[in-house]
Amino acid sequence: RPRVLSGIQPTAGSFHLGNYLGAVRQWVALQETHDAFYMVVDLHAITVQQDPAELRANTRLAAAQLLAAGLDPERCTLFVQSHVPEHAQLAWVMNCLTGYGEAQRMTQFKDKSAKQGADRTTVGLFTYPILQVADILLYQAHEVPVGEDQRQHIELTRDLAERFNGRFGETFTVPKAYILKETAKIFDLQDPAIKMSKSASTPKGLINLLDEPKATAKKVKSAVTDTDTVIRYDAEAKPGVSNLLTIYSTLTGEGILALEQRYEGKGYGALKTDLAEVMVDFVTPFRERTQAYLADPETLDKILAKGAEKARLVAAETLAQTYDRVGFLPGRR
Ligand code: TYM
Repeated sequence: RPRVLSGIQPTAGSFHLGNYLGAVRQWVALQETHDAFYMVVDLHAITVQQDPAELRANTRLAAAQLLAAGLDPERCTLFVQSHVPEHAQLAWVMNCLTGYGEAQRMTQFKDKSAKQGADRTTVGLFTYPILQVADILLYQAHEVPVGEDQRQHIELTRDLAERFNGRFGETFTVPKAYILKETAKIFDLQDPAIKMSKSASTPKGLINLLDEPKATAKKVKSAVTDTDTVIRYDAEAKPGVSNLLTIYSTLTGEGILALEQRYEGKGYGALKTDLAEVMVDFVTPFRERTQAYLADPETLDKILAKGAEKARLVAAETLAQTYDRVGFLPGRR
């Protein structure tokens, strides 16, 4: 079985619809066909300031949501990044392989640090993509299921894998990004020119999966479309409507063409009302399942401990080989 690996940050509150459609949904599908490793990236989370109690709660909350979305610990390895110390260890080696200018070209870092200002930007945020490289290479992943915003980090991973292999001998699998065209970028419901994200300018554009279903329905119904009335997929000319069609189609499995035909001659209102219902039908059981996992933190922690144990077997082997290739003297035997 080919291997996949991916990660998600333990954000406060809830995953959003972009996280789910752009990434987590694919994780669930890939556990059936691939040797799958998925993790909550708490090491990445501390690149911006965190409250310890909140971080702990958010890490459990993220794991609970992943299980609620359909990850099955019998079918995949689900773990927390900090439980596998090899991530930080391999990251150091990768730091020493990365050019300073190369790291400076990472656009997510440029965007985030520009917003925060130099003094509040940590060195951890700067080296964030290199930790992500280590995450992926440790597991010899063939594919990395993510949204479009992660593409540059996967490119960096490929470059560093090839660089290491060239310099020290074949060690790492060179991974490919696994990005589904249709859902690579889910857009903000109020501003379809920008991607849906937690840092959106208005909360009305962001669908948090754990929000009150009624509030979610309301956001869908007030989504920005355009002054035309035709329901047609055209990402350039009609980004708002196209985004709604993408969401509708992915959540129900109904093709975009079929949707266009079904809504021919009907207005945006009809589409939004129906999509609001589709969304409520999706988030309602998702919330319930998440709450059920959270209600039993002992079981949750056990699942994560078992996942970390499985992950470490693979990670330790890759790290040992890497250390040897680099020229570190063998330690305790
Ligand atoms: P994070 O936590 O920001 O996002 C998790 C996943 O959600 C995707 N995503 C989107 N997809 C489509 N449309 C959107 N609007 C949207 N918003 C978010 C992201 O692309 C991502 O796949 N750096 C990563 C976490 C990470 C990682 C890794 C991923 C750490 N190590 C190793 C892969 C492999 C991140 O911050 O994702």
